[in-house]
Amino acid sequence: MAGKVFRSLLRSTSSTNIFQNSPGLRYFSSQVQTVTLIPGDGIGPEISDSVKQIFAASGAPVDWEEVDVTPVKGPDGKFHLPQKIFESMGKTKVGLKGPLATPIGKGHQSLNLALRKAFSLYANVRPCRSIEGFKTPYEDVDIVTIRENTEGEYSGIEHVIVDGVVQSIKLITEQASMRVAEYAFKFARDNDRSTVTAVHKANIMRMSDGLFLKCCREVAEKNRDIKFSEMYLDTVCLNMVQDPTQFDVLVMPNLYGDILSDLCAGLIGGLGVTPSGNIGGEGAIFESVHGTAPDIAGEDKANPTALLLSAVMMLRHMGLGEHARRIEKAALEAISEGKVLTGDLGGNAKCSDFTKEICRKVESSS
Ligand code: NAI
Repeated sequence: MAGKVFRSLLRSTSSTNIFQNSPGLRYFSSQVQTVTLIPGDGIGPEISDSVKQIFAASGAPVDWEEVDVTPVKGPDGKFHLPQKIFESMGKTKVGLKGPLATPIGKGHQSLNLALRKAFSLYANVRPCRSIEGFKTPYEDVDIVTIRENTEGEYSGIEHVIVDGVVQSIKLITEQASMRVAEYAFKFARDNDRSTVTAVHKANIMRMSDGLFLKCCREVAEKNRDIKFSEMYLDTVCLNMVQDPTQFDVLVMPNLYGDILSDLCAGLIGGLGVTPSGNIGGEGAIFESVHGTAPDIAGEDKANPTALLLSAVMMLRHMGLGEHARRIEKAALEAISEGKVLTGDLGGNAKCSDFTKEICRKVESSS
């Protein structure tokens, strides 16, 4: 049984869930809400279709507004996100995004970065919880990484000093550090978590990581009901692979979060089953964390689970917890039973077969 089989990838008790009190959260329950859908590139359209089919089968009251975010050339000759995405997100305040290809040297910055910046999606939240019945090297992993999403090493400030010497600036501000630290503590409290660990390298980057850590300490002082610890990134990596069960909520600057959250995803079965949410003051975009998988794009081989579980996080964010619960249960049950699995999970089912199996389960569930 699903309830027994899973420790539920995302907490979904009746009174609390991951995004119950997220910044920007809208409390709605049953009226149809429009969501901005960015299907993305590569396998993006296939897995987005799968999510749409499963949502339709579950009767989730969601209308999709599809937006293509292919950059357009502005009068300044530079490439920008198309106006349509600003219009759509301005209305809906919530989006679901498939993977986007980042062409190297094609005249525009990473679209993922551009979206995070455009909508000030300051906290990237990635729950990594073991799926019982799905064999991985560790059991009982239950970690949430919260990554500062707007600055740090990914500020995009790079320049050539002289030929052969390039400088890349890691930008850390008090405002962004306080904001993400406050979010981490609030998240911990709202989700019955006991400890927030700040991950840093303030021993080496004394000023930048030092400021980040100072902000975390200040916020910890005001949230003394939640335990606070601080650890060097390298120590966290070592301890994580030795015993991941010792970690709870981790908050960290951008680059560390990018790397560590992938490591955590690896502990529970990989990027194909790991969801994420990008939370901002003005809205939120939920996305699968894997890329466009160009090697299998268009072949009906992709695993839609990560995007589907991101959509489950989105439903909770929108106050549609019951729909979230049913879809999550069906998806995790399908994985645990292991009869219809995509290649990345060790099976040979097509994306469309896996989708049909989840639709069948959702339709027959209560
Ligand atoms: P990738 O995640 O696309 O692929 C790595 C491997 O994982 C491939 O073998 C692929 O087939 C497999 N894989 C990934 N997702 C899968 C799924 N849902 N089901 C089954 N197998 C899956 O990483 P890669 O190849 O480094 O990146 C390809 C493109 O994606 C690049 O342009 C990159 O910039 C972009 N990308 C976009 C991201 C986003 O939009 N959030 C995140 C990571 C990469």
